[in-house]
Amino acid sequence: MEKPKFKTVQEVVAAGGGLPDRYLQAPTGDDKGQPLNGPVPEMDIQAIDLSLLLTSSEAGREELSKLHSALSTWGVVQVMNHGITEAFLDKIYKLTKEFFALPTEEKHKYAREIGSIQGYGNDMILWDDQVLDWIDRLYITTYPEEQRQLKFWPELPVGFRETLHEYSMKQHLVIKQVCKAIARSLELEENSFLDMCGENATLDARFNMYPPCPSPDKVIGVRPHADKSAVTLLLPDKNVEGLQFLKDGKWYKAPFVSDTILIIVGDQMEIMSNGIYKSPVHRVVTNREKERVSVAIFCIPGVDKEIQPVEGLVSDARPRLYKPVTNYVELLNTYYLQGLRPIAASLI
Ligand code: SIN
Ligand code: FE2
Repeated sequence: MEKPKFKTVQEVVAAGGGLPDRYLQAPTGDDKGQPLNGPVPEMDIQAIDLSLLLTSSEAGREELSKLHSALSTWGVVQVMNHGITEAFLDKIYKLTKEFFALPTEEKHKYAREIGSIQGYGNDMILWDDQVLDWIDRLYITTYPEEQRQLKFWPELPVGFRETLHEYSMKQHLVIKQVCKAIARSLELEENSFLDMCGENATLDARFNMYPPCPSPDKVIGVRPHADKSAVTLLLPDKNVEGLQFLKDGKWYKAPFVSDTILIIVGDQMEIMSNGIYKSPVHRVVTNREKERVSVAIFCIPGVDKEIQPVEGLVSDARPRLYKPVTNYVELLNTYYLQGLRPIAASLI
């Protein structure tokens, strides 16, 4: 299979010779006149106990109402007591750092191929004059097992494959619990969203690396976007901040408490919830001194599934806001190419 020609950010940095223009943002949109790395306030969200969310106790009902409030305000929540130990999360963090620290030739064994999003590479180039994000990534479909393409699964660092397998099994359980809890928080039958996403929903893992950047005021780690997934589970860097969410036209930095996982509402959950929970716009800013890593797990509905607002959330008082969509990822890619916020594609 043909490999695309690209230089990762790590390679650009290693080559020296200054910052290529390709990474310089034009000061437009939300950031008009503002340096990208200016100070921003922290979001006021509290961690929610996932182990309580599926119980019918009084404490469980309280957690559900906290979940409802966080998701309808921010579209993002931190969960604790998710069943994955801190030691295991640390191992993921360490292996991610070790993978990106490998020699270039080793990482290129897993390079993205033309026509595939899986594999190792830089920000994918979708249009000619695209300003690139300051990010390198390794993208791998991890679940269900029969959809795996092992050629993209790094053999180094030692233990990476086995740990990713274990992680995807654990994350699958977390995603199921989260989708059930989200349904309960809307007073729906708990399998409503899982059933709509189908048995063949996939989990895709994306390992992100943001090398230190010489111009954090002009270069962005990840441009503002909303996730295309149903939900995203995110493990942000433990030590280096950078992730920000947009609310009412202002940026806020994401809180991060070690041992928690961030749950982000994706576009497809926005549609299924008939817009009660909105997929939040977020971005990552760069850092002059420190490298940053993060690991996102995207839950993507089965390709043949029709995604639409669930019955129980459509009424005379709250009419259906979105058209049914199938093969949503393709539809969204078209909208990304046109530079529109993807969800606009499916609004009635
Ligand atoms: C993303 O939203 O694409 C990345 C998030 C992060 O690196 O924290
Ligand atoms: Fe994202």
